[in-house]
Amino acid sequence: MSRLEEKIFQEYMSFFEKAERERRWNVFEDIPWDRVNKEASEELALCAETFCSVEMYLPDYVSNGINLVRSYFGQAWFQANWAYEESKHSLTLMQYLLRSGKRTEEQLTDLQHQIFAKKWDLPFHTPRQMTFYGCVQEMATFVIYVKHRERAATEGDECLRAIYDYIARDEIAHCRFYQSVIKVLLEEDRQGTLADMAHVFANFEMPGVGIVPDYDSRILKMREAGVDRNVFIQKVYMPILKYLGVGRHEMLAAQRAALDLRRGGERRRDTSIEGLAIAPNLNDAAPQALSA
Ligand SMILES: [Fe+2]
Ligand SMILES: [Fe+2]
Repeated sequence: MSRLEEKIFQEYMSFFEKAERERRWNVFEDIPWDRVNKEASEELALCAETFCSVEMYLPDYVSNGINLVRSYFGQAWFQANWAYEESKHSLTLMQYLLRSGKRTEEQLTDLQHQIFAKKWDLPFHTPRQMTFYGCVQEMATFVIYVKHRERAATEGDECLRAIYDYIARDEIAHCRFYQSVIKVLLEEDRQGTLADMAHVFANFEMPGVGIVPDYDSRILKMREAGVDRNVFIQKVYMPILKYLGVGRHEMLAAQRAALDLRRGGERRRDTSIEGLAIAPNLNDAAPQALSA
Protein backbone atom coordinates (compact mmCIF):
# COMPACT_ATOMS: atom_id res chain seq x y z
CA MET A 1 0.00 0.00 0.00
CA SER A 2 1.43 3.41 -0.91
CA ARG A 3 1.63 6.21 1.66
CA LEU A 4 -1.36 7.89 0.01
CA GLU A 5 -3.45 4.71 0.08
CA GLU A 6 -2.46 4.16 3.71
CA LYS A 7 -3.73 7.63 4.63
CA ILE A 8 -7.02 7.14 2.80
CA PHE A 9 -7.47 3.76 4.45
CA GLN A 10 -7.02 5.44 7.85
CA GLU A 11 -9.71 7.97 6.93
CA TYR A 12 -12.04 5.13 6.03
CA MET A 13 -11.35 3.31 9.30
CA SER A 14 -12.22 6.37 11.39
CA PHE A 15 -15.33 7.00 9.27
CA PHE A 16 -16.45 3.39 9.67
CA GLU A 17 -15.73 3.22 13.37
CA LYS A 18 -17.81 6.32 13.98
CA ALA A 19 -20.60 5.06 11.73
CA GLU A 20 -20.82 1.76 13.63
CA ARG A 21 -20.71 3.46 17.01
CA GLU A 22 -22.90 6.53 16.52
CA ARG A 23 -24.87 6.47 13.34
CA ARG A 24 -26.56 3.12 12.76
CA TRP A 25 -30.37 3.28 12.58
CA ASN A 26 -33.02 0.70 11.99
CA VAL A 27 -35.78 1.14 9.39
CA PHE A 28 -38.16 -1.07 11.39
CA GLU A 29 -37.47 0.06 14.94
CA ASP A 30 -36.31 3.65 14.88
CA ILE A 31 -38.84 5.39 12.64
CA PRO A 32 -42.00 6.58 14.43
CA TRP A 33 -44.31 5.04 11.81
CA ASP A 34 -47.40 5.70 13.93
CA ARG A 35 -46.75 9.41 13.77
CA VAL A 36 -47.32 9.82 10.02
CA ASN A 37 -49.61 12.75 9.26
CA LYS A 38 -51.99 11.45 6.61
CA GLU A 39 -53.39 14.96 6.21
CA ALA A 40 -50.05 16.44 5.18
CA SER A 41 -49.98 18.15 1.79
CA GLU A 42 -49.54 16.41 -1.56
CA GLU A 43 -46.57 18.66 -2.15
CA LEU A 44 -44.78 17.15 0.83
CA ALA A 45 -45.44 13.69 -0.61
CA LEU A 46 -44.29 14.76 -4.07
CA CYS A 47 -40.98 15.96 -2.64
CA ALA A 48 -40.50 12.69 -0.73
CA GLU A 49 -41.30 10.77 -3.93
CA THR A 50 -38.77 12.82 -5.91
CA PHE A 51 -36.00 12.25 -3.35
CA CYS A 52 -36.91 8.58 -3.26
CA SER A 53 -36.63 8.42 -7.06
CA VAL A 54 -33.15 9.93 -7.07
CA GLU A 55 -32.05 7.50 -4.34
CA MET A 56 -33.44 4.61 -6.43
CA TYR A 57 -30.66 4.76 -9.00
CA LEU A 58 -28.57 3.02 -6.36
CA PRO A 59 -27.55 0.06 -8.57
CA ASP A 60 -25.98 2.51 -11.06
CA TYR A 61 -24.32 4.61 -8.37
CA VAL A 62 -22.90 1.53 -6.67
CA SER A 63 -21.69 -0.37 -9.73
CA ASN A 64 -20.13 2.64 -11.45
CA GLY A 65 -18.68 4.02 -8.23
CA ILE A 66 -17.12 0.85 -6.89
CA ASN A 67 -15.63 -0.19 -10.23
CA LEU A 68 -13.87 3.14 -10.52
CA VAL A 69 -12.08 2.69 -7.18
CA ARG A 70 -11.86 -1.11 -6.90
CA SER A 71 -8.09 -1.13 -6.52
CA TYR A 72 -8.08 1.44 -3.70
CA PHE A 73 -8.87 -0.42 -0.52
CA GLY A 74 -10.18 2.43 1.65
CA GLN A 75 -12.26 3.93 -1.14
CA ALA A 76 -13.71 0.61 -2.31
CA TRP A 77 -14.72 -0.40 1.22
CA PHE A 78 -16.26 3.01 1.68
CA GLN A 79 -18.39 2.43 -1.42
CA ALA A 80 -19.61 -0.87 0.00
CA ASN A 81 -20.60 0.67 3.32
CA TRP A 82 -22.01 3.71 1.58
CA ALA A 83 -24.22 1.46 -0.55
CA TYR A 84 -25.73 -0.15 2.54
CA GLU A 85 -26.52 3.21 4.10
CA GLU A 86 -27.97 4.64 0.89
CA SER A 87 -30.10 1.54 0.33
CA LYS A 88 -32.05 2.47 3.46
CA HIS A 89 -32.83 5.95 2.15
CA SER A 90 -34.98 4.92 -0.81
CA LEU A 91 -36.45 2.00 1.13
CA THR A 92 -37.57 4.18 4.02
CA LEU A 93 -39.02 6.88 1.77
CA MET A 94 -40.92 4.24 -0.17
CA GLN A 95 -42.35 2.88 3.08
CA TYR A 96 -43.33 6.40 4.03
CA LEU A 97 -45.23 6.94 0.77
CA LEU A 98 -47.13 3.69 1.28
CA ARG A 99 -47.84 3.98 5.00
CA SER A 100 -48.98 7.59 4.68
CA GLY A 101 -51.48 6.49 2.06
CA LYS A 102 -50.03 9.04 -0.35
CA ARG A 103 -49.13 6.38 -2.91
CA THR A 104 -50.35 2.87 -3.68
CA GLU A 105 -48.21 -0.20 -4.37
CA GLU A 106 -49.23 0.04 -8.04
CA GLN A 107 -48.15 3.65 -8.33
CA LEU A 108 -44.77 2.86 -6.82
CA THR A 109 -44.25 -0.19 -9.02
CA ASP A 110 -45.06 1.94 -12.03
CA LEU A 111 -42.59 4.60 -10.89
CA GLN A 112 -39.89 1.97 -10.36
CA HIS A 113 -40.33 0.70 -13.91
CA GLN A 114 -39.95 4.20 -15.27
CA ILE A 115 -36.90 4.77 -13.11
CA PHE A 116 -35.10 1.61 -14.15
CA ALA A 117 -35.82 2.26 -17.82
CA LYS A 118 -33.13 4.94 -17.61
CA LYS A 119 -29.58 4.59 -16.47
CA TRP A 120 -27.30 6.91 -14.53
CA ASP A 121 -23.81 7.28 -15.98
CA LEU A 122 -20.70 8.55 -14.26
CA PRO A 123 -20.53 12.34 -14.67
CA PHE A 124 -16.72 12.29 -14.26
CA HIS A 125 -14.18 9.62 -14.97
CA THR A 126 -11.29 9.75 -12.55
CA PRO A 127 -11.39 8.67 -8.89
CA ARG A 128 -10.27 12.13 -7.75
CA GLN A 129 -12.94 13.97 -9.72
CA MET A 130 -15.62 11.53 -8.57
CA THR A 131 -14.47 11.92 -4.98
CA PHE A 132 -14.96 15.64 -5.24
CA TYR A 133 -18.26 15.19 -7.07
CA GLY A 134 -19.38 12.97 -4.19
CA CYS A 135 -18.35 15.62 -1.71
CA VAL A 136 -20.38 18.39 -3.40
CA GLN A 137 -23.34 16.17 -4.08
CA GLU A 138 -23.55 14.83 -0.52
CA MET A 139 -23.33 18.34 0.92
CA ALA A 140 -26.08 19.63 -1.42
CA THR A 141 -28.22 16.62 -0.54
CA PHE A 142 -27.67 17.23 3.16
CA VAL A 143 -28.79 20.86 2.80
CA ILE A 144 -31.95 19.76 0.98
CA TYR A 145 -32.88 17.11 3.56
CA VAL A 146 -32.35 19.53 6.43
CA LYS A 147 -34.65 21.99 4.74
CA HIS A 148 -37.29 19.33 4.26
CA ARG A 149 -36.93 18.09 7.81
CA GLU A 150 -38.13 21.52 8.95
CA ARG A 151 -40.89 21.46 6.39
CA ALA A 152 -42.16 18.07 7.54
CA ALA A 153 -42.14 19.38 11.11
CA THR A 154 -44.19 22.43 10.05
CA GLU A 155 -46.76 20.12 8.48
CA GLY A 156 -46.95 18.08 11.67
CA ASP A 157 -45.50 14.93 10.12
CA GLU A 158 -43.25 13.64 12.89
CA CYS A 159 -42.55 10.42 10.98
CA LEU A 160 -41.21 12.14 7.87
CA ARG A 161 -39.31 14.62 10.04
CA ALA A 162 -37.52 11.73 11.75
CA ILE A 163 -36.78 10.04 8.40
CA TYR A 164 -35.21 13.19 6.96
CA ASP A 165 -33.23 13.60 10.15
CA TYR A 166 -31.66 10.13 9.92
CA ILE A 167 -30.98 10.52 6.21
CA ALA A 168 -29.45 13.99 6.62
CA ARG A 169 -27.04 12.63 9.26
CA ASP A 170 -25.92 9.93 6.83
CA GLU A 171 -25.45 12.40 3.98
CA ILE A 172 -23.28 14.79 5.99
CA ALA A 173 -21.16 11.88 7.23
CA HIS A 174 -20.61 10.82 3.59
CA CYS A 175 -19.65 14.38 2.73
CA ARG A 176 -17.15 14.46 5.63
CA PHE A 177 -15.45 11.29 4.41
CA TYR A 178 -15.04 12.65 0.89
CA GLN A 179 -13.77 15.93 2.32
CA SER A 180 -11.15 14.14 4.39
CA VAL A 181 -9.97 12.26 1.29
CA ILE A 182 -9.78 15.48 -0.72
CA LYS A 183 -7.70 17.00 2.08
CA VAL A 184 -5.21 14.17 1.75
CA LEU A 185 -5.20 14.56 -2.05
CA LEU A 186 -4.56 18.30 -1.72
CA GLU A 187 -1.51 17.58 0.45
CA GLU A 188 -0.30 15.16 -2.16
CA ASP A 189 -0.89 17.27 -5.30
CA ARG A 190 -2.43 20.66 -4.63
CA GLN A 191 -2.50 22.05 -8.18
CA GLY A 192 -3.88 18.91 -9.76
CA THR A 193 -6.54 18.53 -7.11
CA LEU A 194 -7.57 22.19 -7.40
CA ALA A 195 -7.89 21.79 -11.17
CA ASP A 196 -10.18 18.79 -10.66
CA MET A 197 -12.25 20.69 -8.11
CA ALA A 198 -12.67 23.56 -10.56
CA HIS A 199 -13.71 21.18 -13.30
CA VAL A 200 -16.31 19.48 -11.10
CA PHE A 201 -17.76 22.75 -9.79
CA ALA A 202 -18.10 24.04 -13.35
CA ASN A 203 -19.93 20.96 -14.55
CA PHE A 204 -21.85 19.95 -11.47
CA GLU A 205 -25.36 18.60 -11.81
CA MET A 206 -27.48 16.73 -9.31
CA PRO A 207 -27.76 13.02 -10.16
CA GLY A 208 -31.52 13.01 -10.86
CA VAL A 209 -31.33 15.49 -13.72
CA GLY A 210 -32.45 13.96 -16.99
CA ILE A 211 -33.26 10.51 -15.60
CA VAL A 212 -35.94 10.87 -12.89
CA PRO A 213 -39.37 10.73 -14.58
CA ASP A 214 -40.91 14.22 -15.03
CA TYR A 215 -37.92 15.75 -13.31
CA ASP A 216 -38.50 19.25 -14.66
CA SER A 217 -42.16 19.46 -13.67
CA ARG A 218 -41.35 18.02 -10.24
CA ILE A 219 -38.72 20.68 -9.77
CA LEU A 220 -41.19 23.38 -10.78
CA LYS A 221 -43.68 22.22 -8.18
CA MET A 222 -40.94 21.97 -5.58
CA ARG A 223 -39.62 25.39 -6.38
CA GLU A 224 -39.31 26.95 -2.98
CA ALA A 225 -38.25 23.63 -1.52
CA GLY A 226 -35.04 23.33 -3.51
CA VAL A 227 -31.58 24.78 -3.49
CA ASP A 228 -31.03 27.79 -5.71
CA ARG A 229 -27.77 29.30 -6.79
CA ASN A 230 -27.42 31.52 -3.71
CA VAL A 231 -28.10 28.70 -1.30
CA PHE A 232 -25.63 26.57 -3.22
CA ILE A 233 -22.90 29.18 -2.86
CA GLN A 234 -23.61 29.94 0.80
CA LYS A 235 -24.35 26.47 2.10
CA VAL A 236 -22.42 24.14 -0.20
CA TYR A 237 -19.61 25.85 -2.10
CA MET A 238 -18.24 28.17 0.61
CA PRO A 239 -18.39 25.67 3.50
CA ILE A 240 -16.57 23.05 1.41
CA LEU A 241 -13.78 25.47 0.50
CA LYS A 242 -13.51 26.59 4.12
CA TYR A 243 -13.32 23.04 5.42
CA LEU A 244 -10.63 22.16 2.88
CA GLY A 245 -8.59 25.25 3.67
CA VAL A 246 -8.80 26.48 0.09
CA GLY A 247 -9.00 30.26 -0.29
CA ARG A 248 -11.57 31.78 -2.57
CA HIS A 249 -8.89 33.43 -4.71
CA GLU A 250 -6.96 30.22 -5.04
CA MET A 251 -10.13 28.47 -6.22
CA LEU A 252 -10.98 31.25 -8.66
CA ALA A 253 -7.50 31.05 -10.18
CA ALA A 254 -7.94 27.29 -10.66
CA GLN A 255 -11.35 27.89 -12.21
CA ARG A 256 -9.93 30.44 -14.65
CA ALA A 257 -7.20 28.01 -15.63
CA ALA A 258 -9.79 25.28 -16.18
CA LEU A 259 -11.87 27.63 -18.33
CA ASP A 260 -8.86 28.64 -20.42
CA LEU A 261 -8.12 25.00 -21.03
CA ARG A 262 -11.61 24.46 -22.31
CA ARG A 263 -11.75 27.51 -24.57
CA GLY A 264 -11.79 26.55 -28.17
CA GLY A 265 -13.56 23.37 -27.23
CA GLU A 266 -17.23 22.97 -26.77
CA ARG A 267 -19.14 26.16 -25.98
CA ARG A 268 -20.14 26.33 -22.31
CA ARG A 269 -23.85 25.96 -21.77
CA ASP A 270 -23.86 27.13 -18.18
CA THR A 271 -23.24 30.55 -16.76
CA SER A 272 -20.71 31.81 -14.29
CA ILE A 273 -21.04 33.76 -11.13
CA GLU A 274 -17.68 35.19 -10.19
CA GLY A 275 -16.01 32.26 -11.81
CA LEU A 276 -18.31 29.72 -10.22
CA ALA A 277 -20.30 28.01 -12.86
CA ILE A 278 -23.29 25.97 -11.90
CA ALA A 279 -25.21 23.97 -14.41
CA PRO A 280 -28.67 25.51 -14.79
CA ASN A 281 -30.42 22.40 -13.59
CA LEU A 282 -28.84 22.72 -10.22
CA ASN A 283 -31.45 25.31 -9.42
CA ASP A 284 -34.03 23.70 -7.18
CA ALA A 285 -32.12 20.49 -7.39
CA ALA A 286 -33.36 17.30 -5.85
CA PRO A 287 -30.85 15.26 -4.04
CA GLN A 288 -28.61 12.80 -4.62
CA ALA A 289 -26.41 10.54 -4.53
CA LEU A 290 -23.73 9.01 -6.09
CA SER A 291 -21.80 8.92 -4.24
CA ALA A 292 -25.38 9.92 -3.43
FE1 LIG B 1 -29.00 9.23 0.25
FE1 LIG C 1 -25.21 10.04 0.83
